[in-house]
Amino acid sequence: MCGIVGFTGSQSAAPILLDGLKKLEYRGYDSAGIAVLGENGIHMEKAIGMIKNLDAKIQGGAAMSGASGIGHTRWATHGEPTDVNAHPHMSNDDKFAIVHNGIIENYAALREELKEKGFQFKSETDTEVIVHLLDLYYEGDLKKAVMKTVARLEGAYALGILCAEEQGRIIATRHAAPLILGVGVGENYFASDVTALVAHTKNVVYLEDGEIADITPENITLYNELGKEVEVKVTRIAWDIAAAEKGGYEHFMLKEIMEQPHALKSTIEPRIKDGEIVLDDFNLTDEDLKKINKVMITACGSAFYAGSVGKYVIEELCRIPVEADLASELRYRNPLVDEHTLLVVVSQSGETADTIAAMKECKARGARILAIVNVVGSTIAKLADDVVYTWAGPEIAVATTKGYTTQVAVMHMLAVYMARRLGRLTDEENKALVEDILQFPSLIQRAIDLNPNIQTLSEKYHGYNNLFFIGRNLDYAACMEGSLKLKEISYLHSEAYGAGELKHGTIALIEKGRPVIALACYERLFDKMMSNIKEVKARGAQVLAVVLEGNRQIFAEADDVIFVPRTNPLFNSLPEIVPLQLFAYYVAKANGCDIDKPKNLAKSVTVE
Ligand code: F6R
Repeated sequence: MCGIVGFTGSQSAAPILLDGLKKLEYRGYDSAGIAVLGENGIHMEKAIGMIKNLDAKIQGGAAMSGASGIGHTRWATHGEPTDVNAHPHMSNDDKFAIVHNGIIENYAALREELKEKGFQFKSETDTEVIVHLLDLYYEGDLKKAVMKTVARLEGAYALGILCAEEQGRIIATRHAAPLILGVGVGENYFASDVTALVAHTKNVVYLEDGEIADITPENITLYNELGKEVEVKVTRIAWDIAAAEKGGYEHFMLKEIMEQPHALKSTIEPRIKDGEIVLDDFNLTDEDLKKINKVMITACGSAFYAGSVGKYVIEELCRIPVEADLASELRYRNPLVDEHTLLVVVSQSGETADTIAAMKECKARGARILAIVNVVGSTIAKLADDVVYTWAGPEIAVATTKGYTTQVAVMHMLAVYMARRLGRLTDEENKALVEDILQFPSLIQRAIDLNPNIQTLSEKYHGYNNLFFIGRNLDYAACMEGSLKLKEISYLHSEAYGAGELKHGTIALIEKGRPVIALACYERLFDKMMSNIKEVKARGAQVLAVVLEGNRQIFAEADDVIFVPRTNPLFNSLPEIVPLQLFAYYVAKANGCDIDKPKNLAKSVTVE
């Protein structure tokens, strides 16, 4: 989704803004633009397509002079990707330039009102109303004009503002869309996320909803929505520049797959004390926990599939009913939620619009909200009652890998933690489960090491269109993630099916040579899976089986086999996903796809 950067200091702004936009490329975009304030007013340049087009147009920034400016990558929502619709947008008198992330829901009415007042619109965007409103309300006091402008907006926005009459000053504000300030020495920044800031500073300020930041090279002043000055709280981020760069890997996705052991270690180890799982940020008392009669898990995409793993494990260990719902469905139904419901919200970015909406819906009905989130200070983290962070570090590839596995790990920890507090685990059982969880980083490393043949296998399978993933129980949850990984980066069509469902329709599609990836690591149901594998083999399918290390029975039926290291049967879907991530990666590579930035996809889905 759209990305925003802003800079003010004493150096030339354009190269810094350009570099910041490159760091935000992973979010997904179709055009880019920059506006810089120089001696002769605001100079704006935009280009559709990749940032390299903009880079060439402004000669790496050399063609734009000025020490303050704003930049934007646009992911089109209102109006096609064109130069005119790209941001920044400027007022008719060239006094203001703005960049915007989010959607202004009442833009049509505002557009009519502003047209009647004589403002001329150049673009089809919802954003352009904002710059004309600023022009309308500006009477020499920029902060006041911003306050009056945002008071008219309905919807979501993160805004960066430049005013030709205010040398060295940039303004940033947000409501329900991410925006972070970077604090430098004699220079300051803002950006949609920290990846665009880490090259310059590790000191950041997470803007609260509705806050307005008035930024000059020497100073940041923060105001709340009422215009009252509020304290600037500077946080030191743990990520460094290496985390936001490829570090020798051909793609961020491969780097992030390889980072999983480390990401899991950071997520798990600090939370295990004296053999017990301690979730410091989950502040539910034992009494409150005992009153919870239902757990609901909601999320989108892969985060939902991580939640689906959680459903099986929490239900099994805690013996509480657990529902897992897509956020985009949950928000539009009339769910039975009350103060005895624990809603677990899962999100890497913490900014997914449907997840936020579902969460607000359940919160209004009294649910207690626990968020499992990767991005510190994100909207979901702020809205939740309790937050357990997945310390995966920045995830740049659009297709999640370490984001997903750390979410699954937290789901497992949550299940054991709740079961223990509910008195459902003996000391012995708890000890064994905690020891298994502590082994996750080395388990994942073994899953990576065990499969040097995945690249060779992918060469055999990359030419097929239409693959099926089948599995039961926890294997089914892993099927959904494995299938999504493959389709989103390789553009091959694949479907995930509960293996028992095949005979209810899908088996009609199984024919000679049809690839079926059969996940059979959940050994309690291994015999059932073998029957399903036989069913598809009998119809000519080519079966790639994923089974636990040491399973030799599978050779009787499968054409190809991937082995997965063993752990507690409840946790096996975690190592099981690793070869499927690698399989998707190598298939996409063999097909020449843009792995880190698949077409039409955005990293952080901030629109509905
Ligand atoms: C797939 C993928 C998406 C996200 C989904 C939710 O690889 O990354 O399906 O899982 O868009 O995003 P978050 O976790 O940021 O809420």
